[in-house]
Amino acid sequence: MLKRSSSLAVTVMLSAAACESTGPGDTGGGGGGGSNSASVTFHRDVEPILHKSCLSCHSNGRIGGFSLEKYEDVRPLAASIVAATQSRAMPPWGALSTEGCEPRFPFKGDISLSDEELATLQAWADADAPEGDVADAPPPFVPPPLGLPNKAQTLAPEEPSVVEGDSDLFECVVYDPALTEEKWIDGIHLVPGNAKVAHHALTFRTSREDANTLSGGTGRFPCFGGAPGQIVHVWAPGGNPFELPKDVGIKLTPDDVLIVQMHYHPTGTSVEEDSSEVELRYSDVVPPYQFVVTFPGNAANGEDGLLPGPNDRGEPEFRIPAGVSDHTETMEIVIPPEIIIEVPILMAMTHMHYVGTDIRLDIERPFSASQPLEECLVHTPQWDFNWQRMYTYDTPIDQLPKGKAGDILKLTCHYDNSMGNPFVKKALTEQGLSAPVDVVLGEETLNEMCLAPLGILVPSSIDL
Ligand code: HEC
Repeated sequence: MLKRSSSLAVTVMLSAAACESTGPGDTGGGGGGGSNSASVTFHRDVEPILHKSCLSCHSNGRIGGFSLEKYEDVRPLAASIVAATQSRAMPPWGALSTEGCEPRFPFKGDISLSDEELATLQAWADADAPEGDVADAPPPFVPPPLGLPNKAQTLAPEEPSVVEGDSDLFECVVYDPALTEEKWIDGIHLVPGNAKVAHHALTFRTSREDANTLSGGTGRFPCFGGAPGQIVHVWAPGGNPFELPKDVGIKLTPDDVLIVQMHYHPTGTSVEEDSSEVELRYSDVVPPYQFVVTFPGNAANGEDGLLPGPNDRGEPEFRIPAGVSDHTETMEIVIPPEIIIEVPILMAMTHMHYVGTDIRLDIERPFSASQPLEECLVHTPQWDFNWQRMYTYDTPIDQLPKGKAGDILKLTCHYDNSMGNPFVKKALTEQGLSAPVDVVLGEETLNEMCLAPLGILVPSSIDL
């Protein structure tokens, strides 16, 4: 299914690489690796890949835990690097170009590896990880800034979160920017306080009133699926600040606060505290577009959008039966008549919980003069709850994919509700269960979702 990681493609390219390097007299000694060592070296071929896709996390003091900066450090890890990259566990980047889905534009900050890069890493490991000539090395790695450039405000919680025990903790924490006038955010970032336990964070814009009701005035409350309001930022370890493109902002009024849903992963052995910070930057002018996230998907039983599925008992139902390892739910959401103008889509995200394995969003346009009639917007074929991201198209606003009234958003979600799914096994264990249970739509850990938050650009003059 995965186009880029198809083992066939990798094999073909590997043999091509081997052929190229097999010069006259290079046929005997040194085993299979001898010939490759002439063509693939650490400094020339491997180091640039590590710079592009790995060092933002695997360099000194960053979340990856160990450094992949120096040849001496990388060499002994050659085999595990091949295993982690071929399985697509590393680098953690979910949106891939697949056989059925090739998004029209690249995503900003895409660190996923191409087939060629995977083959290069493998050929290098097969050749016994040669160093090569240091003169071939790329320029020194410059780590991306850990904070938001030119930030205007830093928000911190009043009290730290306490993370202990051995179950994952989901906590919503209120951050109050205390604005006295309306402002437009053009950059936002979450800075984890304690990298040992901060696993993931979703930031929402919510009214102060709702936040107070939910937290009973304490500034925090337990939450799993998310918080009410508008999602404005997603952070995963190593995540970059979300800097909106020129002409785009997120409206924040004096009545608004931010709620960060923190996902903590306890160490299991120690009591940890975390005070993660939210950094904000504001635009000097009211930008022409506001960034708004809509949530197509999650069609419930009895709703039009939910299509018939393989395990329905009668009417279409959102139910993933216990023990079924290849269940699919599909939904079709028609963009409502109010959207009379074509709306640019800047960001596409996918969202499921622990049973989900693969989720994809397509758009079908019954008629359009400017847009393809069918287009895949995003596909995360190896869904991983722990590494959710916002995928932002890297193209000028006027070229972004667009949607309008009557266009159909199609969601296809696959699930594995068996003990063969390690995330299901872990979630069940945490709930004290020993066998899978039927999973239905909902907010809890052992509920599921089939959702594709879409970041659209709406004229700022429209009051939302
Ligand atoms: C966004 C941060 C991030 C990036 C980028 C990243 N890693 Fe990792 N890596 C981690 C973290 C965190 C772990 C620890 C295990 C975990 O949480 O998944 C890890 C673990 C590993 C492991 C240990 C085995 C495993 O699969 O858990 C290897 C090997 C590895 N990374 C290699 C790489 C390589 C090679 C790249 C680049 C192609 C890369 N990583 C890019 C964060 C990252």
